[in-house]
Amino acid sequence: MTLHRVIAIDGPSGSGKSSVSRSVARQLGLRYLDTGAMYRAVAQGAVLAGIDVEDAERVAQYAREMDLPMPTDPDEQTIIVNGQDVTATIRTSAVSLIVSAVATNLAVRRELVRRQQEIVAAGSIVLEGRDTTTVVAPDAQVRILITADPEARVARRTAELHDEVSGRTMSQTMTEIIDRDAKDATVVNFQTAADGVITLDTSHLDLAGSVAAVLRIIADSEKELAP
Ligand code: DC
Repeated sequence: MTLHRVIAIDGPSGSGKSSVSRSVARQLGLRYLDTGAMYRAVAQGAVLAGIDVEDAERVAQYAREMDLPMPTDPDEQTIIVNGQDVTATIRTSAVSLIVSAVATNLAVRRELVRRQQEIVAAGSIVLEGRDTTTVVAPDAQVRILITADPEARVARRTAELHDEVSGRTMSQTMTEIIDRDAKDATVVNFQTAADGVITLDTSHLDLAGSVAAVLRIIADSEKELAP
């Protein structure tokens, strides 16, 4: 029997966890799951279906019934919910502003965690998102919390979301990140590492440096686990 390699990576907004995780999956030839995209897809899908995201029961029902075939190829991340391509819209500020209502809906979390665990059970994977090291895959061989100081996180997110990095766009992003982290922290603890989770501070690392550091952590952990 071959053992599945499961690598779980979490961290706050703008920590760079998505780009790092995708690149790590690509380099190790593993599948990749962006769990945050699933929360974003529920938010956008609910809006498209005319459901108020604050209506917890209807959103949960939508999540249980929706067709969301999650891509696991790190190079092909098209997100389609109930037949509609939402790949671009789930990244907009409009969705970032409403996604916490979905991420704090416990019935939605139950459903998405169930779907995520099904995908993980199918084989080796790098999965990424807030509760992946603690709730979705607490038994993963390697669990990493990627952090970065607030200035680094705001600068990265601003560059991602806006064409220009100015005082105005930075302060807009700062408000968005701080608000969202505060809301999300009410349901999942992603700021401090749980037992057995390795913390990697990427404040002073670029993407390539962060990927190299994660690959080192994985190699070291797997060496320790080797019989
Ligand atoms: O990582 P992201 O910004 O794409 O995540 C979108 C939202 O979903 C954000 O509010 C955090 C939340 N989330 C979560 O609660 N649990 C996860 N496993 C992944 C994301």
